[in-house]
Amino acid sequence: MNVAEAIRTKRAIRRFAATPLPEAVLERILRAGRRAQSSKNTQPWQFILVRDAERLRALARLGPYADHLAGAPAAIILITPDPKQRWSILFDAGQAAAYMQLAAWEEGVGSCLATIYALDEARDLLGFPPDWVAHVGLSLGYPAEAAELSRAPRSGGRKSTDDLFHNEQWGQKA
Ligand SMILES: Cc1cc2nc3c(=O)[nH]c(=O)nc-3n(C[C@H](O)[C@H](O)[C@H](O)COP(=O)(O)O)c2cc1C
Repeated sequence: MNVAEAIRTKRAIRRFAATPLPEAVLERILRAGRRAQSSKNTQPWQFILVRDAERLRALARLGPYADHLAGAPAAIILITPDPKQRWSILFDAGQAAAYMQLAAWEEGVGSCLATIYALDEARDLLGFPPDWVAHVGLSLGYPAEAAELSRAPRSGGRKSTDDLFHNEQWGQKA
């Protein structure tokens, strides 16, 4: 895979084909998360793979923008220690998620994050212990429309380089 191309073209996919994801594909995606870097190599995460349609529908009700979980053939829910303990916990989880999303992209699998708001309900649904929390899940599936996987970035889809980059000091441009 061309990493630069993956970074440039990967789009959030929220509509999926019903085709199940092969076991080996899911395993490679999960393993990419396992490889992610983390602060002091603490690896503050557990990954719960969910394929049961009813459980996915229940998860989709746990956040106002989580509905895409309901239509996905699979999801990986990222479980972390309470991020109030250390600022880096969610930073680390974000990297594991990004690695999994790039690995998915290489497999032709679309993905989108879903923020979970109902934290206690998520714990009940997935059965993880009280010192862990699920702030985010990742929908996974072949896109309903194949071309969507790397559709052209919307114009204005990202802030301009001028709005983002500074040279040596804040406000200085190259
Ligand atoms: C921390 C985080 C939480 C997100 N939560 C949601 C969500 O709850 N629902 C959703 O549809 N997308 C969610 N997204 C996906 C973003 O909306 C998406 O990455 C962004 O709009 C860029 O999409 P694009 O790469 O297709 O341009 C989340 C992304 C991140 C990084």
